[in-house]
Amino acid sequence: MNTSRAVIDRSRYRSGLDRRLFGGFLEHLGRAVYGGVFDPSSRFADADGFRDDLLQVVRQMDVPLMRYPGGNFVSGYNWLDGVGPKENRPARLDKAWNSTETNQFGTDEFINWCKLIGSEPMLVFNLGTNTPEMAAAYVEYCNIGKGTHWSDLRREHGVADPYDVRYWCLGNELDGPWQQGHMNSAEYGDVALETARLVRAVDPTVQLIAAGSSNTELPTYGTWDREILERCYDQVDAISLHNYYGNTSELTGQSTPRFLAMNLDMERQIRHIADICDSVQKQLGSRKKLWLAFDEWNIWYRARTPADMDGREQVAPPLLEEPYNLEDALLTGGFINTLLRESNRVRIGCLAQIVNVIAPLMTGDQGVQKQPTYYPYLWALKHARGKVLDIRVESETYPIEGAGLRPDFAIDAQVPYLDVAMTLDEQRTEASVFMLNRDLENARELELDFQPTGPSRIISCDTLTGPDLKAVNTFENPDRVVPQSLQAVSNGQKTRLKLPPASYSVLRLAFDNDR
Ligand code: AHR
Repeated sequence: MNTSRAVIDRSRYRSGLDRRLFGGFLEHLGRAVYGGVFDPSSRFADADGFRDDLLQVVRQMDVPLMRYPGGNFVSGYNWLDGVGPKENRPARLDKAWNSTETNQFGTDEFINWCKLIGSEPMLVFNLGTNTPEMAAAYVEYCNIGKGTHWSDLRREHGVADPYDVRYWCLGNELDGPWQQGHMNSAEYGDVALETARLVRAVDPTVQLIAAGSSNTELPTYGTWDREILERCYDQVDAISLHNYYGNTSELTGQSTPRFLAMNLDMERQIRHIADICDSVQKQLGSRKKLWLAFDEWNIWYRARTPADMDGREQVAPPLLEEPYNLEDALLTGGFINTLLRESNRVRIGCLAQIVNVIAPLMTGDQGVQKQPTYYPYLWALKHARGKVLDIRVESETYPIEGAGLRPDFAIDAQVPYLDVAMTLDEQRTEASVFMLNRDLENARELELDFQPTGPSRIISCDTLTGPDLKAVNTFENPDRVVPQSLQAVSNGQKTRLKLPPASYSVLRLAFDNDR
């Protein structure tokens, strides 16, 4: 068997890991909020109407950050509808998803839920149909102690202490023709600039994220990012990236080897947008370097027809309930490796979304079900800590061709069978190695060669694999795709393991000798 090698010099690292890289996303969409997070009529509901079964699962995952309230929803949302006495909150037609929004869950409930699950909230302004002034008012409601109109309103609602929300998105996907309030780049650049100025006057400590291109397929991809930054660069801290991937005839020719390389498309997008930021920085002579927020990423291609997105004016209609299979879980692992590799630039990432809507978790009458994609995400949340190491991987490659996400962005390349990323937590003297084997036929041996010394012991090694790439979990059969343990052998400087065909694995190592 051909052996691949990873050379690991523990003193060479790419970045200190900000765990916000593995955030989640909760949108008022389908059954995400109502029926997912919040469902007073459920037998699982707690005294506040939160589904306690879901809450326990999400709390245990330790998701660092949660984006809210949209998504497309936010571009028609008035945050005032969702605060204050519940009996006074209006039911409205949400035009993004043609659904009825009862507003029984709003900002105060969201922040409470975040406290319960241990996540930091990241809020999005409506810059589609609402004004910069109302965005600034939202920050005043959330972040000012007392003595102003909007902060006192929060206090009237029973919340004495400010929420101190640090991360705010300047609208959502306003480059997209589907977006309420869709604009051209000049219009958006000006609105983002104006909003940022007002918001910073209310709270100078916030971090503001401009809405970058919604995907790599729009004709404005790239030029949008450049043109908006030329207008608002000085007032923003970061720009957002979004993308959804799929094993479709257009994108991959429905070829799994091509599909499993799609994290490399994500990697290209990150580098491309980072280059645009740096070139605008240079052009403007600015001293500030922007960071990136990949605040919507996932696989989404099945539940994507117009009918899948039409709520028919219902409350909490089941929308975008994408069933994920093993193949999707493997690529999710690939995305995690890419985010780790690019973590010197991408500070925030949000798996879109957290529950019921294109999500790793589903709720039903029986409780919570974990889709296969839950496991690689959980491993990143639990085991990616400390620093991301700059490792050198030597692996055989295979050729792919294919359109990818954009014709002039196509990958026509040799793709390594093994995709490996690694973190090292010096305080806990632990390391985690995340390994995708894209070879569908063969197990591949990997030798980890440590410099200067190898681990003292193996803590655990788990893999997600199976004979059927299309296997899914259901409420009836919830454990079809679950991790199994894998053998790894360590002797001094070298650790060896045999990665099963089509697998994503995590190896955890102790460096107790370093203590
Ligand atoms: O996450 C689903 C949708 O995808 C979001 O509402 C939107 O921002 C994106 O197009």
